[in-house]
Amino acid sequence: MPKEKAIRELEDLPGIGPTTAEKLRNAGIDTLDKIATSFAATLSEVSGISNDAAKKAISAAQEATTLNVESAKSLLKRREDIGKISTGSKDLDELIGGGIETDAITEVYGRFASGKTQLGFQLAVNVQLPRKEGGLDGSALIIDTEGTFRPERISGIAKKAGMDSEKVLENISVFRALSSDQQMLAIERADKLIQEKNIRLIIVDSLTSLFRAEFLGRGALNERQQKLNSHIHRLAILANKYNIAIFVTNQVMDNPGLMFGDPTTPIGGNILAHAATTMLYIRKSKEDKRIVRLVDSPNMPEGECVIKITQDGIKD
Ligand code: GTP
Ligand code: MG
Repeated sequence: MPKEKAIRELEDLPGIGPTTAEKLRNAGIDTLDKIATSFAATLSEVSGISNDAAKKAISAAQEATTLNVESAKSLLKRREDIGKISTGSKDLDELIGGGIETDAITEVYGRFASGKTQLGFQLAVNVQLPRKEGGLDGSALIIDTEGTFRPERISGIAKKAGMDSEKVLENISVFRALSSDQQMLAIERADKLIQEKNIRLIIVDSLTSLFRAEFLGRGALNERQQKLNSHIHRLAILANKYNIAIFVTNQVMDNPGLMFGDPTTPIGGNILAHAATTMLYIRKSKEDKRIVRLVDSPNMPEGECVIKITQDGIKD
């Protein structure tokens, strides 16, 4: 679990102020690793701090740079704690190995009206079910960046499932983000809410639209990717720290350069592809049918299934 005040720079070490850090850097001791492997006498000599202070800084640097190794056995134990949220469709659950996993980021991408938001609604309801019914006995946090959250739709899905719709609505916290800064801040400040409300699912719908609208043109591309990257990184930390499921939606853009296959690629490109644990591509079929393709998963084979978006939610 990450510490409250992580040691990332020389100045974060005990007894090292900006002036001392400057002196150390000038002497070429400019990383925590270098401090961790220095002699106290050397540090003391180049920076003027006492031998004792140098020793303290060295052990703090050693602690901060220790490799975070975990035994495979304890990793297996952690895997056993992984929860899964049912999507409402048995076929889709099977395709992805039992449901949307905790301690992971699941990305669904697809065109307009393909059903990404509907899938999110269903998960926000299902996470509240008991474990044996496909839920996690938890609540949901939705970051709504497009103003498409519909409580009446949630209520309808919950009622049809025989749940107390008032309670279901109470257990969904919604944050309407109007800018990418607000979106990022909501996730940066989510710790308290997660603990107080037993949040087991965070939905970011959509992950990319505000970034896309705000950072226009080639010149802004780098900044956009950097911000998105840090946003996703923060989501990944929350997923791991609290063992919660992260579900993000993403639009696709036409890729006219592609001659064969489906000429669409998710926005955000490679950064997202590497950050998401599981990637699903959803597309329209006849009437209320949708085809979901498992594009990337750490432990399940690629494949497809058909789901239906109905009045009662997501079904086979
Ligand atoms: P964008 O956010 O625009 O990219 O689309 P999306 O992928 O989020 O689409 P969304 O999940 O909003 O799906 C919209 C589709 O869901 C509609 O075109 C309808 O076909 C279907 N839908 C939404 N509400 C209902 C409902 O109450 N009953 C039924 N049967 N279908 C619904
Ligand atoms: Mg949507």
